[in-house]
Amino acid sequence: MVFQNPTMTRRNGYTTFFAVLSVSLLLYISFINTPSTTSFRLGGNSAVDKVYKNYSAWHKCLKNNITSMEGNPDALWGNLWRGIKLCEVIPEMKGLFIGDYPNSDETKRHIVPKMQLPSVIVTLGIGHDTGAEEKLIKGLPHGSEFFGADPMHEINEDLYTKLPGKYFPFAVGESSGFAEASVLINTTYTTKTVVNVDIIYFLKNLVKRNFIDDIWIDGEGAEYGLFDHFFNGGRFDENGITFCQFNIEIHAPDTLQKKLFHDFIFRLLKDERYAIYRPVQGHHMRLFMLNFANEECVYKYIL
Ligand SMILES: *[C@@H]1O[C@H](CO)[C@@H](O)[C@H](O)[C@H]1NC(C)=O
Ligand SMILES: *[C@@H]1O[C@H](CO)[C@@H](O)[C@H](O)[C@H]1NC(C)=O
Ligand SMILES: *[C@@H]1O[C@H](CO)[C@@H](O)[C@H](O)[C@H]1NC(C)=O
Repeated sequence: MVFQNPTMTRRNGYTTFFAVLSVSLLLYISFINTPSTTSFRLGGNSAVDKVYKNYSAWHKCLKNNITSMEGNPDALWGNLWRGIKLCEVIPEMKGLFIGDYPNSDETKRHIVPKMQLPSVIVTLGIGHDTGAEEKLIKGLPHGSEFFGADPMHEINEDLYTKLPGKYFPFAVGESSGFAEASVLINTTYTTKTVVNVDIIYFLKNLVKRNFIDDIWIDGEGAEYGLFDHFFNGGRFDENGITFCQFNIEIHAPDTLQKKLFHDFIFRLLKDERYAIYRPVQGHHMRLFMLNFANEECVYKYIL
């Protein structure tokens, strides 16, 4: 037979058509699933990919504003707040609902989850005041947990336990041992030798949580030793500990501490994990950070 059966030809045509279609689909699927490199991230479908464009706009904004202060810790300490205030109001950040939780001398920030998933909140340094925790607990899903540490148990233990929260009678920092710390006794801050517990041991073995929705760090200086823990590949990463949000008070710095702070901020920008908002600048500085690089955090707080 020299003539082909016309139905066969048509079937071959369909076969070819479907083969081409399948190959295109496969190529398309592998394209949208290709992770991490910047050019593909924009078209990706993970939660982190979906917010990457917004994060990038924030990142570019802050970077442009503070690049000229790289290498100048004094200038950065004095002016970072201006850049953060400029960049937290760009259109790409307007979808965030950062709440204010004031206590008697400052305001903590927190984004409440969009789904009814309970939260884990950690307070380092209670300072005779749980006004912010009391307001926050009312807005959180049932089953949320509070863990608070402060070396001075008077007042703090009662207040924190009543939240209800779990109270720990020591300071938390970069290592364990005795350390001089500035602590609140009655109404004044006094230097005292206190027991310090390593933050990794504290979170993994005592709090026993590795996904922390928000940690409030009021370490009266101990925060400087924690900066590098937050870096990509730092001690928190090494131990599988995630923070979706954190509030940090950075104690009035000396010259060396200004340099540590400078390196902290530029490293956070390089790491592209956290965005920084709500600066309050006085002798001390307070900042609020939000994690844009963890899937669970992005689903729970940003998307
Ligand atoms: C950074 O932002 C502040 C506040 O808007 C502005 O005054 C300052 O000129 C900006 N600096 C640079 C280098 O863009
Ligand atoms: C992302 O940016 C757009 C503006 O470009 C804004 O409408 C949207 O709300 C932002 N999304 C989030 C999650 O903030
Ligand atoms: C704190 O106040 C209590 C009660 O007023 C007092 O007995 C105690 O001596 C005070 N402690 C310090 C260190 O001032």
